[in-house]
Amino acid sequence: MSRILAATPEAIAQAADTVRHGGLVAFPTETVYGLGADACDGRAVARIFEAKGRPAFNPLIIHVENLEQAEHLAVFDDRARTIACAFWPGPLTLVLPRLKDGPVSDLAAAGLPTLAIRVPRHPVALALLRAFAGPIAAPSANRSGSLSPTTPLHVARSLGDSVDLILAGGACAVGVESTVLDLSEATPAILRPGAVTDEDLAMSVGAPVAYATAAAPAQTPPRSPGQLLRHYAPSRPLRLRAVDIAPEEALLAFGSVKFMGIKGGGAVRNLPDTQVRNLSESGDLYEAAANLFAMLHILDRPEHRGIAVMDIPETGLGIAINDRLRRAAESTGTR
Ligand code: TXA
Ligand code: MG
Repeated sequence: MSRILAATPEAIAQAADTVRHGGLVAFPTETVYGLGADACDGRAVARIFEAKGRPAFNPLIIHVENLEQAEHLAVFDDRARTIACAFWPGPLTLVLPRLKDGPVSDLAAAGLPTLAIRVPRHPVALALLRAFAGPIAAPSANRSGSLSPTTPLHVARSLGDSVDLILAGGACAVGVESTVLDLSEATPAILRPGAVTDEDLAMSVGAPVAYATAAAPAQTPPRSPGQLLRHYAPSRPLRLRAVDIAPEEALLAFGSVKFMGIKGGGAVRNLPDTQVRNLSESGDLYEAAANLFAMLHILDRPEHRGIAVMDIPETGLGIAINDRLRRAAESTGTR
């Protein structure tokens, strides 16, 4: 089992030291826990791919302390600067042209001419970046293709001994990964939906911003490798937009289950909470996002034939939640 330390100043200093020596540190961000390494040290970055069992063509997000540090890594124009000032620190990643001869390892960028960068909002992440005083590459701290971790325990379970240190900072407030906005081309495009929505971005950009997600027609090569459908997979099949459940199914609910029935008879509201979890009884999408991965983890048990998921509105943060659920359903072979 890996070492889990409460994020005291001493533990943060120790974590920065571990990163300095090429080690792997898991740390909380406001979105999900990240698996961090020195972004400029190719070998340390390779350990991330190894620990995650991640396809090497998938580039990593580079975390920095502020815009100034980011400008040492990528090319910012006025548009990028305006957007960064509006949303950083926060759950928005910007894809920008990589600075020629910049310090970030090629492996972290997966050989692309662009770089994905963000300034996280979580105080522990910011303290770690300050203590390390350099960019940290950090994908979500889980084995590739499995659920994203929103608690230190999720990290420990998924990565075991392959992480040197886990900084514990409680459960993540947002619960889904950051919005990825591609600013490397003339037209901005959202490559991955997240808590910062198209509407939020449109205000800052001054024009509508389009989604270029998995739902969009296939491009070769994909504009973001993260668009590949195989991702975020629980081991049990997911069934989306369920209006009732089979007796052996688990239910991931959203909103009231008062009128939801079990095939063959019975009411969902009488089932034990090992079988039914509610993302948000009041239908709050922020609460739902924060609960999403943790509840999928809980329901993903062998005694359940599958996990039925109630309909979640395709608006605001609901777009990101549905994106994760659809990918999960795809990769378990059902819809
Ligand atoms: O919320 C988050 O963003 C979390 C926390 C830890 O900060 N990190 C995270 O990183 O989700 P990761 O590596 O799991 O996700 C990286 C995403 C993938 O979809 C990847 O394909 C995309 O960003 N990406 C990275 N670099 C890119 C680039 N140069 N061009 C296009 N997409 C890129
Ligand atoms: Mg991930």
